[in-house]
Amino acid sequence: MKPAFVFGTRPEIIKLAPVIRAFLDRGVKPLLIHTGQHYDYEMSAVFLKELELPPIDHHLEVGSGTQAEQTGTAMIKIERVLMEEKPDVTLVQGDTNTVLAGALASVKLKIPVAHVEAGLRSFDRTMPEEINRVLADHASEVLFPPTEEAKRNLEREGITENVYVTGNTVVDAVLQNAEVAEEKSDVLEHFGLESKGYVLITAHRAENTDSRENLEKLVEILESLPMRVIYPMHPRTRNRLKKFGLLERVENIENLIVTKPLGYLDFLKLERNAFAIMTDSGGIQEEAIILSVPCLTLRYNTERPETVEAGGNALVGLEKERAIGYLKRLMEDQEFYERMKSAPNPFGDGKAGKRIAEILLELYEAGKLKVGSSRFI
Ligand code: UD1
Ligand code: UDP
Repeated sequence: MKPAFVFGTRPEIIKLAPVIRAFLDRGVKPLLIHTGQHYDYEMSAVFLKELELPPIDHHLEVGSGTQAEQTGTAMIKIERVLMEEKPDVTLVQGDTNTVLAGALASVKLKIPVAHVEAGLRSFDRTMPEEINRVLADHASEVLFPPTEEAKRNLEREGITENVYVTGNTVVDAVLQNAEVAEEKSDVLEHFGLESKGYVLITAHRAENTDSRENLEKLVEILESLPMRVIYPMHPRTRNRLKKFGLLERVENIENLIVTKPLGYLDFLKLERNAFAIMTDSGGIQEEAIILSVPCLTLRYNTERPETVEAGGNALVGLEKERAIGYLKRLMEDQEFYERMKSAPNPFGDGKAGKRIAEILLELYEAGKLKVGSSRFI
């Protein structure tokens, strides 16, 4: 069997690595197609290196652009590779423009699509990611929702065949790398941070960074944080801060360390040792609960409601009073802190990658890995 992996951004590399490894462990060589949606060393190559992935077979160098430019260019370039390579299945993960481009290009060539982390819904149609999730799920032949809740989202949209709840591969990634990170990374010493003595913050979502109004709210939160803070900054946010003339304000905040994005091992160590995490990232909401660190999400909705229901995550939005109020409560109310910290991980046992590879190999051997073999009839 010849599985093709199409990916292009930081979280896709991290969350697909366990699936790639699972295929390799079964003696199957996956074809690796990198769209180049992320291209800076610290947004892409560092992860390929740290996660010891085999060399990329096709670098498509799509780069940045508007939504349609990026998705369209990726589609055209992915189609060429798929026509040449003729894989048996195309795997995509998550909700980026790369995912939508990979899924559409593949299914139209009658190459079945397997969607890892299927069924997530924020129910917010203004997010580019929500459109990508819905369309990728409907273009997919095999769906791997991480949780029962994600499976129910698919059911509500009539997707009931070839749906397998596997857990989220983010757990595999954390379990495979947290100990190594703890041993190898000197990130705390490097930044002069003490375990549980700082807040880790990240924010990069379009809805938080593309308008000056919302970005300024983020800056106000940063200016009011009552603890040391480290912010490994996504290039999108840095660019927008510059564009709106807000970067200098951020750089002048005492107590705040702004760095470039960090490698996975350094970042995992920072997460694990943080007093709390504030973020608008999807993957970081998941990693926080896996690592038993309270998470305050700088959004008004989440496609990871399991984290909120489990008690480890609170949606604080971008209002300074609410966000800082939550953080102060965590600092002052030990019982509240312990409650958030001990929320159970809803994302599975860390064997999702293995399950996904096994299911796809079984479907392939049974002759069922074909477009139209299930609900498309
Ligand atoms: C994308 C995903 C988002 C995901 C995030 C992971 C979409 C619609 N969004 O957002 O869901 O959470 O990746 O990090 O697919 N840039 C660089 N260097 C890079 C990459 C980007 O400078 O290596 C800058 C460029 O100015 C670019 C901007 O960041 O225009 C945004 O990049 P893009 O890939 O379009 O979206 P992300 O914000 O990264
Ligand atoms: N991450 C990292 N270095 C950083 C920031 C994030 O390695 O400086 C990792 C993080 O551990 C998680 C993933 O990147 O696994 C999340 O990516 P991101 O927040 O960019 O995307 P999202 O999950 O929101 O799509």
